[in-house]
Amino acid sequence: MIWKEMEDFVRIFDTTLRDGEQCPGAAMSEDEKVEIALHLAKMNVDIIEAGFPVSSPVQFAAVSRIAREVEGPVICALARSLRADLESARDALKEAKRKRIHTFIASSPIHMKHKLGKTPAEVLEMAREAVKMARGFVEDVEFSPEDATRSEWEFLRELVEAVIQEGATTINIPDTVGYTTPQEYFELFQFLKTKVKGADKVIFSAHCHNDLGLAVANSLATVLAGGRQIECTVNGIGERAGNTAMEEVVMALRTRRDRFGVETKIDSSLITRASYLVKTITGMVVQPNKAIVGANAFAHESGIHQDGVIKNRQTYEIMTPESVGLKSNRMVLGRHSGRAGFKDRIIRLGFDPKPEELDNAYQRFLEIADKKKEVFDEDISALFQSETRRTQVDGTFELVSFEQATGSNKTPTSRLTLKVSKETKSAEATGDGPVDSIFKSIDKITGIYPLLSRLVISPVTEGTDAMAEASVTVEYEGKRVVGKGDSTDIIEACAKAYIDALNRL
Ligand code: KIV
Ligand code: ZN
Repeated sequence: MIWKEMEDFVRIFDTTLRDGEQCPGAAMSEDEKVEIALHLAKMNVDIIEAGFPVSSPVQFAAVSRIAREVEGPVICALARSLRADLESARDALKEAKRKRIHTFIASSPIHMKHKLGKTPAEVLEMAREAVKMARGFVEDVEFSPEDATRSEWEFLRELVEAVIQEGATTINIPDTVGYTTPQEYFELFQFLKTKVKGADKVIFSAHCHNDLGLAVANSLATVLAGGRQIECTVNGIGERAGNTAMEEVVMALRTRRDRFGVETKIDSSLITRASYLVKTITGMVVQPNKAIVGANAFAHESGIHQDGVIKNRQTYEIMTPESVGLKSNRMVLGRHSGRAGFKDRIIRLGFDPKPEELDNAYQRFLEIADKKKEVFDEDISALFQSETRRTQVDGTFELVSFEQATGSNKTPTSRLTLKVSKETKSAEATGDGPVDSIFKSIDKITGIYPLLSRLVISPVTEGTDAMAEASVTVEYEGKRVVGKGDSTDIIEACAKAYIDALNRL
């Protein structure tokens, strides 16, 4: 049976900043979280899960800032079913115009016994108490029985009924370990929607992990059973194999409205930028064949496909690239393009530049246009975003110049000059390769010797003269940061990314 809801749309609950950030290497700074949250608000995300405030002062500060600065979506904070967690969530959300507390407790036999050391009756009581307390703090309370898909259905029914009685307004059914299948998850939602007293008063929500590659399919199955919220992350980042990818559910519901009968309120033309932002900030690359946001998602390579697309795009395209905000990259600027043309392009690419950002980006554009005959929209987006990101960081170190000697029978050697506050300092170093030697020369000047935990270099467009973006993750004294750099020279891109990371430390 397809359920009819009064307000019939699927709410997008974005947890990029909470569950997404929990994956190794995706830690974000407070400014970066705010930047992502502002973009999610622009996209019309219904609920932003901003973090888990009790888990650390850094988390608390980020949730408070998002609550204060981001308007539009409901801002949500996660809390275990414990007083301290709930109070911390309440305090962090104090300044939000629209707020939600999301409280959870595990409900599967394996979690209750081995993780919590509690009986089902104790878990039920804790859940009741938590929802009651949360309702004393805010009107909007979400409850999740963690590991729901490995829980006993009858116990789940009892638990969900109890928390609805206490005032929960959204019931989220997490597939915590990515174990369920679309049919099974559909049936579980149907069971709860028909058997739980008070089910008609709440919104049922899906929360899936992608361990079997089924997160999106599972989430979509619940929509057919009356689920009206999907919890997801941009690019599907998240613990282990990740969470449901927001861009995929949004576009599946839109493209196959004939099957689902409902949609989301997301402005899909902002999807590509969201993906880029999350990729750049976390340093988590997007596989080229990833649906919707992968580099090849709209590329037609084979002759037969290209021929079909030229005759009629719909032969091989079920969505247009424009619908997800992917602009044609054939609009070329070059070194003779003036400032006005550059500004116009930046605005048409959807940015709202401040005069200072525009000046810096235009200078970078001229440098790149000198090296590269044609500058594409992707190059302009990348350089503008990297310039704005750079100006957010107080740059202690700045690259002035470098030289390298390398070859098959030579030890790679770098000579590099940095601006350190107001002075310039130079150093020379050898290394196992050109990147190693340039990083070592930077270390000699800065005196910081961080651990390099990840280095990713990706071209922005095609061709040997393409701009490269480098993302460097370093760890130092318990801190992990991601630095970014771009250039038509990959070694320079790496050096800039490394310096950006050091500035962020
Ligand atoms: O996967 C999970 O169970 C969670 C809960 C906290 C909702 O992330
Ligand atoms: Zn999760």
